[in-house]
Amino acid sequence: MVARENVSGVERKIWDLMKELSVTLENVTESPSLEVLLIASKVLGVRKEDLLSKNIFVPADRERNLRQLVMKRATGYPLHYILGEKEFMGLSFYVEEGIFIPRPETEELVELALDIIKKYNVRVVADIGTGSGAIGVSVAKFADVIVLATDISEKAVEVSKKNARRHRVLERFLVKRGGFLEPFREKFDLIDMILSNPPYVREGAKLPRDVLFEPSEALFGGKDGLNFYKEFFRRYNVEGKIVLMEIGEDQVEALKKLVPEAEFLKDSSGRFRFLLLNRHFF
Ligand SMILES: C[S@@+](CC[C@H](N)C(=O)[O-])C[C@H]1O[C@@H](n2cnc3c(N)ncnc32)[C@H](O)[C@@H]1O
Repeated sequence: MVARENVSGVERKIWDLMKELSVTLENVTESPSLEVLLIASKVLGVRKEDLLSKNIFVPADRERNLRQLVMKRATGYPLHYILGEKEFMGLSFYVEEGIFIPRPETEELVELALDIIKKYNVRVVADIGTGSGAIGVSVAKFADVIVLATDISEKAVEVSKKNARRHRVLERFLVKRGGFLEPFREKFDLIDMILSNPPYVREGAKLPRDVLFEPSEALFGGKDGLNFYKEFFRRYNVEGKIVLMEIGEDQVEALKKLVPEAEFLKDSSGRFRFLLLNRHFF
């Protein structure tokens, strides 16, 4: 939109509008003003810095559009589905309804993975449950590896490809629809490292309202949240490989029993959030 200094009665100044709409979001987020600013920036096609510095007039149709989206957000609908993107590892990932929104703690998994890739000269990485491609695309972007990604969701296959294209790693990011590593069975022996941020929430766990808009197959891991891990370690012999997975902070004891050789690593807030199994041959 062209930012116009127009005094027509049907047009409102953006600052007044943002102030009014921020109140609507007070019960759903800790940053209502910022969220309204981000939504307004998308609706008006104006950079947020410009929205802050220039008190522009908003045409009535854009105001309607902005109000509708803020009302949608007020129901708990995730901000990043409205914006159509989420920043992860300094990269902008396209996201939409049906796709898990990448979380900051998973950036720590990627950073750990990048260190290990360097240390052991890893060449082929698998990313199970790639979703938006957050893990696999970032790893392909920041390390010279080939990524074999899978997801049970067709939409995740499409969206992760789109993100791989966006970040120019499509030739090293192969994604197929299917469970676990089944789509790459014939390449299993080539895989050096297996990464995953699987569904690990206990069935029936109380979750924040906006999380419930995300796909349930991305979140829930059965009664104890451990279905994915149990099935993965039952199916695959990971001898010679490195496995790094995100876990729920209350799952360490159960996972120690399931995978006694694994190490458990803490995140930056001091919580055990990662399982590392290094069966790599030196
Ligand atoms: C928590 S999300 C993680 C998405 C992405 N890796 C991230 O960290 O943002 C889990 C993803 O795993 C997929 N998924 C669930 N079970 C799976 C399985 N058995 N095999 C492959 N993908 C699976 C879901 O569709 C979802 O996209």
